[in-house]
Amino acid sequence: MFSELKPLPTDPILGLMAAYKQDTNPNKIDLGVGVYKDEQGNTPVLRAVKKAEAFRLENETTKSYIGLAGNLDFCQKMETLLLGEHSTLLANRVRTAQAPGGTGALRVAAEFIKRCNTNATVWVTTPTWANHISLFEAAGLTVKEYPYYDYENKGLLFDEMINALKQVPKGDVVLLHACCHNPSGMDLDQAQWKVVAELAKEQGFTPLIDIAYQGFGTSLEEDAQGLRTVADTVDEMIICSSCSKNFGLYRERIGACSIIAKDSATADVSNSVLLSVVRSIYSMPPAHGADIVNTILSSTELTQMWYDELDEMRGRINGLRTLIKESLAAKGVEQDFSFIDRQHGMFSFLGINKEQIDRLRTEYAIYMVGSSRVNVAGVSKDNIDYFADAVASVIK
Ligand code: LMR
Repeated sequence: MFSELKPLPTDPILGLMAAYKQDTNPNKIDLGVGVYKDEQGNTPVLRAVKKAEAFRLENETTKSYIGLAGNLDFCQKMETLLLGEHSTLLANRVRTAQAPGGTGALRVAAEFIKRCNTNATVWVTTPTWANHISLFEAAGLTVKEYPYYDYENKGLLFDEMINALKQVPKGDVVLLHACCHNPSGMDLDQAQWKVVAELAKEQGFTPLIDIAYQGFGTSLEEDAQGLRTVADTVDEMIICSSCSKNFGLYRERIGACSIIAKDSATADVSNSVLLSVVRSIYSMPPAHGADIVNTILSSTELTQMWYDELDEMRGRINGLRTLIKESLAAKGVEQDFSFIDRQHGMFSFLGINKEQIDRLRTEYAIYMVGSSRVNVAGVSKDNIDYFADAVASVIK
């Protein structure tokens, strides 16, 4: 049966990682996969994580199964991080299952949606993270797109977005990026979140909020503000969160899928379905990542250390956004790149064409996704000149 299979192309984002690794050009720059890098181009383990791991090594008492929902203390802390410590939802309407990364959380959500409504359509932004579409389709759901990023003006197509969402019926799901939109870096402002929240309530569709970059945009609190507005407005929603980026726990695969239901009884029923989904996919999540996050968030000292490290990462990313804009202008590039400084998180589209992207890769060993999405954290004070010269030369 295997001989019937046809080879598939490599993943557009992960394929870049492999190609970059093999490139022997000493000047090579990786602007591909969404992984934070420091000024030296490394992705170090956070200091707070190292301390939590040392604590865990000393204090772990068993390797027995963890349970379907995973580490319940971790789940509760994630709910607080997402919804805010004063949220009234925490007491009765939210239920959370730990999941293997943000992608695992999305897959659990997809199967949960399928159990709620086999015919649900999931609406995603144009564009969205490439894996969103294949992930929901793989779960047997229909995926449709709604307008979002304005490629021409490097902003939002907000009116078009709202007009499209006005056609979405009850029983469908609308996926929204809480902050640091992947791939465009273009986020809704708070007034726009209010409009979307009211529309979700009016139309009756279910918002699914993907929050993979909390703390990478403006702050931990502000990055969750839109999500909180929606949560306070609608009867039900789904939140898929990830600790890959903000805790730097990429390879530990730690995230969560949270369901908010209209009341406690419905939340309990939803939770039983959520856990049955988990059981049928991977039975139980791994323990390590959740223990680390829980250990950090249980300690005032480690939490403060993590806040500081998160501030450092966000500060560097925002500084690089300004640096890229200024360096390109200094090289005499006429095209306006000031939008990079207005966008948030790790990603922006450079807005250059395929031929220019290919030239950057073949002539300069600068790697970015084929859509011109760049991970700004791949730039540093050491390579910014090389990068700006290269972009200037392919644009001219
Ligand atoms: C990205 O968008 O680069 C990250 O979310 C990593 C991935 O899995 O694609």
